[in-house]
Amino acid sequence: MKILLLGSGGREHALAWKIAQSSKCEKLFIAPGNAGTANCGENVAVGVNEFDKLKDFTAENKIDMVVVGPEDPLVNGIYDTFKNDARTANVPVIGPSKAGAVLEGSKDFAKAFMQRHNIPTAAYGTFDGTMIEEGLKFLETLQAPYVLKADGLCAGKGVLILPTLDEAKKEFREMLGGMFGNASAKVVVEEFLSGIECSVFVLTDGKNYKILPEAKDYKRIGEHDTGLNTGGMGSVSPVPFATKEWMQKVDRKIIRPTVEGLAKENIDYKGFIFFGLINVDGEPMVIEYNCRMGDPETESVMLRLKSDIVDLFEGVANCDLDKRQIEFDERAAVCVMLVSGGYPESYAKGYPITSINDVEGSVVFHSGTAMKDGEIVTNGGRVIAVSSYGKDKEEALRKSFTEAEKIVYKDKYFRRDIGQDL
Ligand code: AMP
Ligand code: GLY
Repeated sequence: MKILLLGSGGREHALAWKIAQSSKCEKLFIAPGNAGTANCGENVAVGVNEFDKLKDFTAENKIDMVVVGPEDPLVNGIYDTFKNDARTANVPVIGPSKAGAVLEGSKDFAKAFMQRHNIPTAAYGTFDGTMIEEGLKFLETLQAPYVLKADGLCAGKGVLILPTLDEAKKEFREMLGGMFGNASAKVVVEEFLSGIECSVFVLTDGKNYKILPEAKDYKRIGEHDTGLNTGGMGSVSPVPFATKEWMQKVDRKIIRPTVEGLAKENIDYKGFIFFGLINVDGEPMVIEYNCRMGDPETESVMLRLKSDIVDLFEGVANCDLDKRQIEFDERAAVCVMLVSGGYPESYAKGYPITSINDVEGSVVFHSGTAMKDGEIVTNGGRVIAVSSYGKDKEEALRKSFTEAEKIVYKDKYFRRDIGQDL
C-alpha cells in the first residue's frame, strides 16, 4: 500500500516510524513532515490544509490511504473534501468527518453530546454575548476554582482556571468580548474537577473499536507542574491508576457510549478518539475529546503497540476492526521532550543539533526540526522526543534522561521530573 501521512510533529514521526514497520506499507509519504520523518519515508512539501494539492498528490501518486495526524485539517473537513472528489472518493482517510471532528472543534458540542449520552463529565453551562447576566449567575452557583473554556479551537490556550469569583467574572466578560477572537464567541463555564488526568486512545471504524495503551502527559513547562502550559513535555505509559477495573469502567461508561452515540447521531467517524480523562475518587470523567492522537502521548503509545498499525487502519477503512488483532508490549514506555530555551514563550530557531547519532537504545522522534544546508537544526518550541522502553517506568525514564543528555543544541531544556508524580 502507498500511504500518505499528514503532519510535521513528534506525533507524526512516531506514527511514521510505526507505519514504516508494516509489511503492508510499500511506500510512505509524509506531508509536510520534518527532518525525522524523512528517515521513515519521503517528505512532500505540501501543508496539511492545502486540500487541493493533497488531492492532486493522492490522485497522481495512486495513494491507497491517507492518515491524518493533527486536528486542524480534520476540523476543516479533509475527510469530506476527499469523499466529495471523484478522484479521491475511494481513498480511505483515517480521521473523522468534519461533523465528527466537532467533538474537538466545539467544547459546547462536546458537552451537549456527553449530556445526551449520559457520559460522565463536569456540570456546565454555555453562554454567548447575549447571555452575560445568565453566565454570571451560573458562575455564582459554582465553587472555586472556576473553569472557563472558549468554545472553539485555540491551539491549547482557550482554557482559563481562575481562583476567585471576581476574576472568573472579569475573564468571562473578556472572553465573550473577543479575547480569543471568534473561538470565544461562546464560552463554556464548568464545574472544577479534582484528580489526576490520563489520556485514553481509541481507534474506531464507526462501529467497532480498539483501545490503545493509555498514557499520561506533562503539560507545564516547569518541574513539579509549575509555570506555563506547553504542548506537552513528556509522557508515560502505562498509567498506574488505570487498572484493568478502571479501564473497564472507562470502556463501559465513556468509550462505548461515545462510539454508539456518534453512530446514533449518524456522524461518520473512522479514526482516533482521544479521551482526556480525570480520575475523580476512582471514577473516570471526561475533561475533553480530541479527534486525533495526543502529542507527546503518541511517542510513548506507539512503542507499546505491538500489532501492525496498517492492519488496524485497514480494519477502520473496511469496517472490520473487530476482526483485527491488537497486542501491547508489556514493558513501560516513556518520552522526554527536549525543547527550545524560552518555550512556550518566545524562542530562537535554527540552532544546529548534534550527537543525535550517539543515542543508543532509545528512539528519537523529531518534533520541531528541519534540514538546513545538510544539517539538522531546531525549528520549533518542542524539538526532539527521546522515547525509551524499560521493565518499569523508572527504568525507562532513566534511559530517556541519560540519552537526552547526549543530544546537543543551544539552550536545550527538558523536565527531569517526568513520571515522578505517579
Ligand atoms: P482542555 O483543553 O479542555 O483539555 O483543558 C485544558 C486543561 O485544563 C485540562 O487538561 C485540565 O488540566 C484543565 N481542566 C479543564 N477542564 C477542567 C475541569 N472541569 N476541572 C479541572 N481541570 C480542568
Ligand atoms: N497531549 C495533549 C494533546 O495532544 O492535546
